[in-house]
Amino acid sequence: MSRQIIGILAAAILAGSLAACAKEPPRPGPNATLYERLGGKPAIEAVVDDFLGNVAANPEINFFFANSDIGKLRGHLVAQVCEASGGPCKYTGRDMPTTHKGMAITERQFNSMGADMQKTLVKFRVPDREQKELLTLLGSMQKDIVGK
Ligand code: HEM
Repeated sequence: MSRQIIGILAAAILAGSLAACAKEPPRPGPNATLYERLGGKPAIEAVVDDFLGNVAANPEINFFFANSDIGKLRGHLVAQVCEASGGPCKYTGRDMPTTHKGMAITERQFNSMGADMQKTLVKFRVPDREQKELLTLLGSMQKDIVGK
């Protein structure tokens, strides 16, 4: 192959990889917030949607939501996870003890919902570190939700 052709090929390969780089958003570093590492609002919306699908199919807990406005609940959950993970959202729903008061949610039901969330995180291949952080964050709300 002539030098000229090799030069043209090399330039084309370089241009291609530069174009690919330009299209890919920068990866958040290890010190980024959980919100950033999860992939921001679009990723949280996708996680909440899939999670709500799991909850709807889970006979251990789905009856709780028989009369719920799921669209409204979705919005509250997205805002809550977004804010709690360090994102720019503001959760404006009711606090957790008030919301779940009188529901007499058991620890088993709480864990069943946690398993629904974990199923979603595994499905979306969320890395272990981010899975643990999000599940710990949700787990920390147990005392405000169970047995109220
Ligand atoms: C970490 C776990 C949980 C979180 C973060 C959470 C969060 C929320 C939020 C943000 C709302 C909406 C608040 C509002 O309307 O202002 C809500 C409502 C509700 N939650 Fe939870 N929740 C959790 C666990 C559970 C569990 C385990 C159950 C039942 C098994 C449950 C049942 C409900 C029901 C029935 C509603 C009312 C929905 C409606 O307004 O119709 N939650 N929850």
